[in-house]
Amino acid sequence: MEYKENVLCFEDYCWLRESVDWLLFSKEHTQEALHNSLYTVTAVDGNQTVGMGRLIGDGMYYMIVDIVVHPAYQKKGIGMNITNMLVEYVKNRTPIDGRSSIQLIAEKGKENFYEKIGFKRIPHDYCGSGMRKVIHK
Ligand SMILES: CC(C)(COP(=O)(O)OP(=O)(O)OC[C@H]1O[C@@H](n2cnc3c(N)ncnc32)[C@H](O)[C@@H]1OP(=O)(O)O)[C@@H](O)C(=O)NCCC(=O)NCCS
Repeated sequence: MEYKENVLCFEDYCWLRESVDWLLFSKEHTQEALHNSLYTVTAVDGNQTVGMGRLIGDGMYYMIVDIVVHPAYQKKGIGMNITNMLVEYVKNRTPIDGRSSIQLIAEKGKENFYEKIGFKRIPHDYCGSGMRKVIHK
């Protein structure tokens, strides 16, 4: 398995989302989002992209989105490797004595996957609930 940086393309993105029954966005919307990503990681087996993850953000606050491993390749550590690479990107860019924060929304029942990488469920002692507003037009 090879892990590639910043080569995630529209076709692979849609193929992977469809493989886990996630909805697609329009081509234009998707391409703009991929273009605006800070960092993407893809897992490639031969010529086939089998996993992906994206990082978006501004250098202080980041968000991890689109962590997907094709069902035929799940439970082999690929999702963990991709997510760790995204976290490493942030670690490398956080200044000495500085602080960065990575947010994400876990799918129901997937919280445990992210806890293994050190993410904490919210709410907890210091944080209230995560909040979300989806815009439909
Ligand atoms: C969630 C997902 C990315 C995990 O990828 P993966 O490559 O199968 O996961 P890994 O093999 O790297 O698993 C890493 C660890 O997380 C655990 N884990 C994996 N899938 C899990 C799940 N669905 N729920 C809870 N824990 C899970 C594994 O047990 C493993 O722990 P271990 O090393 O102690 O055995 C993958 O199942 C997927 O693409 N699911 C559909 C899309 C999705 O839900 N994405 C996440 C959005 S929040």
